[in-house]
Amino acid sequence: MLSGILHYAHELLEGSINKGETVIDATCGNGNDTLFLSKIIGDSGHVLAFDIQNQAIINTKQLLDDHKCTNVTVIQDSHANIFNHVSANQEIGGAIFNLGYLPNSDKSVITKGESTLSAIHSILRHLKKNGLIVIVVYHGHQGGKQEKESLLEYLTSLNQKEFSVLKHEFINQKNNPPFVLAIQKR
Ligand SMILES: C[S@@+](CC[C@H](N)C(=O)[O-])C[C@H]1O[C@@H](n2cnc3c(N)ncnc32)[C@H](O)[C@@H]1O
Repeated sequence: MLSGILHYAHELLEGSINKGETVIDATCGNGNDTLFLSKIIGDSGHVLAFDIQNQAIINTKQLLDDHKCTNVTVIQDSHANIFNHVSANQEIGGAIFNLGYLPNSDKSVITKGESTLSAIHSILRHLKKNGLIVIVVYHGHQGGKQEKESLLEYLTSLNQKEFSVLKHEFINQKNNPPFVLAIQKR
């Protein structure tokens, strides 16, 4: 059975993150990925969840409260500033980016190539060996194509001796279907 794109992204992280690790949701939105990470890492772990939008912070906190999650710090800041929020020697067990805009909200607030790349670059320096950054790329909206192209350009240039980069997509879907990129630190 083939998994849907988001489910596949979660499967990749589930297979590589361990209990007790510190992990990152770089775009927490409605909090679904944050909740997923919170369950994997357990009480001894820590999720750092970022979003720039107030509504996303409210929605994520509400979802976490509903599920009584106490292992998450929700941070209203750009993921480009992630390392203002973690110590220099902090190891990161894994991270997820869900790109685009917050569903049912302001479609002009979108993730952008420059800050997305800056966040990925920072996380890679702190990612554990064999750890994954998983990126769900939505690119059908205005601005999505530019972000997709800058991401692909950067990720194809990563040294294959240091990182393995995978692209996972359905090739017979219409209307700019989302796809998954996964970067593993070797
Ligand atoms: C597709 S939504 C995320 C969905 C979310 N992962 C979930 O499970 O509901 C993308 C989110 O990225 C946020 N965003 C845009 N630019 C950002 C940035 N520079 N740093 C952090 N979040 C950002 C948007 O506000 C939006 O909530």
